[in-house]
Order: sequence, then C-alpha cells, then structure tokens
Amino acid sequence: MRRYVIFCLLCTGLFFSFATASAASEEKPLQAVIYVDEQPVKTEYIVKNGHLYVPALFLKHAGAFVNWNRQYNAVIFQHNEKMISFPVGKKVFYEFLRKENRWDPHPLAEVTMKMNGTPYVPLVTVAKALEMDVTYDRASRNTYVTSNVEVAENQLLYGDRRLKVGALTFDDGPDDYYTPQILDILKEKNVPATFFMMGKNVAKYPQQVKRIVQEGHGIGNHTYDHPDLRKAWTTDVTNQIQSTQYELMRVVGRQPDLFRPPYGALTKADVKLLNELGFRNILWSVDTLDWKGKTGEEILEIVHEQVFPGGIILQHNFGATGGELHGTIEALPMIIDELRKEGYTFVTVQTMLDLQKWNR
Ligand code: NI
Repeated sequence: MRRYVIFCLLCTGLFFSFATASAASEEKPLQAVIYVDEQPVKTEYIVKNGHLYVPALFLKHAGAFVNWNRQYNAVIFQHNEKMISFPVGKKVFYEFLRKENRWDPHPLAEVTMKMNGTPYVPLVTVAKALEMDVTYDRASRNTYVTSNVEVAENQLLYGDRRLKVGALTFDDGPDDYYTPQILDILKEKNVPATFFMMGKNVAKYPQQVKRIVQEGHGIGNHTYDHPDLRKAWTTDVTNQIQSTQYELMRVVGRQPDLFRPPYGALTKADVKLLNELGFRNILWSVDTLDWKGKTGEEILEIVHEQVFPGGIILQHNFGATGGELHGTIEALPMIIDELRKEGYTFVTVQTMLDLQKWNR
C-alpha cells in the first residue's frame, strides 16, 4: 500500500515537472537531463497522459541490458535477476518467472510506443520492475534514478604517473595507405605502439594486421564498424565485439583483451558487458584530434601540452587515401624524438598495464 502511494506521488511530480512542456510534446520528443546514480544523462522524453516516457535504451545508462525482440515487437530488459518484456502498443508488460519458466503478465496504465522507429517506455514502471529507485525532487525539478547495481569501472585513461613511459595508440584501422607508413616509422625508430582495430578493416586488410603483430605491436578491439555503443541494443554490442574477435583470431590467431570504445562512449550496461567478456577499456589522456586534418606541428603542440608520465596518446590510421591523416605521419617521428629527449620510453598499452601491476 505504501509503495502505491509513493508511486502515485512520483507520477504526479513527474507530471508537473514536465507539464509546461507537455502540451507541445505529445508527438515530438523533447530533451531533458535525468540523473542516473548521480550522473547527469541527457535524454529525449515524451510526456503522455501524465506519464514520462524515455527511449528504451536510456535504461542502459542504469546498467540494464536492453534488447529488441522482433518476433514479439517488444523491448526486453535484464537487470540483476529480473527480466521483463514491454510489447509495443499493448497495455501490459511481462515479467519472466525463472522458477516457473513462464512470462507473467502485469496490466499497464501506459502503452509502450514507437516514435520515429524508436521504442519509448514508461520510465517509472520499467525502473520499478527492475528494482531501481526513481525519485523526483520538486525543488530542483530533477528526476533521479538509482540503479542499485555495482559495476566495476574498469577503464584506463593513463598508466602509472610515476613512470616516464608513454603509449602511442592508433585507432580505426588498419588500412593500406597510412598504416604501412606508420609501421615504417615505428620500425625505423624501434618504437612499439598499440593498434585498436575495426573488425571490418581486419577482414579487409589482413596483411597489415599480420605485419602489426609480427613487428611486435599491441592490438585491441575497436568494434566491427564503429557504432556509438550507447545507441545500440545489447545483443548488437556483443556482436560488434565478438565479430571483431573472430576476425582477429582468424587472421593472427590472437584475441586481445583490450577494448577501446568508439568515441570513448559507453553506458553502464556496456561496461558491465565488457567486464563479463573479460575486457579492459582503454581510453586516452592525450587527444591529438589528428582526424580533423591537423598539421604535424599542430599535433606535436597538442602532445606537448597534454602529455605526462604514463600518458596514452590517441591517433588514427584509417582514412582511405585522403589527405586528412597526413599530419599524423608528419607528427609521428617528431613526437617520438621529442618525448625521447624528455626521457620518455615508449611501451605498448599491455606493457603499461603490466608495469602498473608490478609497481602496486
Ligand atoms: Ni575510433
């Protein structure tokens, strides 16, 4: 009974908070910030009949696995031990009862709906069914979701700051234009680097991948074709990662346990999945922005400004035959010479992780 009262107050609160915008928002989603485990998450939303709807994938920010079931035209959520299904267009949701091995229907006041192809679900109902907490703060007019799940962060932006080491990393490749030039420079300077590769490019340029491994460089998984994982169903995220592992296994007989998310963007659910798959998420501390077509001098300047011991430097090695990565090639020998002069030693990301472990 008490739960029921809280639930209604909550709905009223949410209704009032969004009421001013709701008149115009029935058909067109608006933008708002909702706090998930105290982190602000920007999301689209709709208010319909006093209920707050968000895109189903929003729940990934709270650590829930979210999938689309084509057969039943339904969104399936998994969180902790709960599994629930919200079929589009129906005033019902189902909870899977493991012991009885059946789906138990719950009547729903709000209909799950599709807007521009995106399924929208009633946030409060979904969150409650997944045993999350939702509160609305009248004073600040903010909505807070507490996921009630612990997910180890498991990401590395830089290594041990007490060691004067740096890791050069190259993303999105390989290709057959920039990659050989980069490998030539690294070979000449005797510097190991780490390549975070896209599965589709591994399949397209297997000789380059073989050369990368033969010449002693580290490799990592950078998804199959570079989607924003925050906007992908959990099964698609899994496929992106596993198909890339498959290609690497096929080409060089090795599967990395280093992962770099496209755009450095992951939800809590993606981190949870990557943890379960045994990956470390490798980000960076120096963003050269080389893909913007910067010159070698400009890239060197950025490295100079941002680098510190243990730094991980982000560059790219995929861009077909265009001129946009010429700066990367220009900058590379300069970066190596400069940092060496300052006393840096270059290591792969894997070595950086090992050094961190040994020095603990
Ligand atoms: Ni990338």
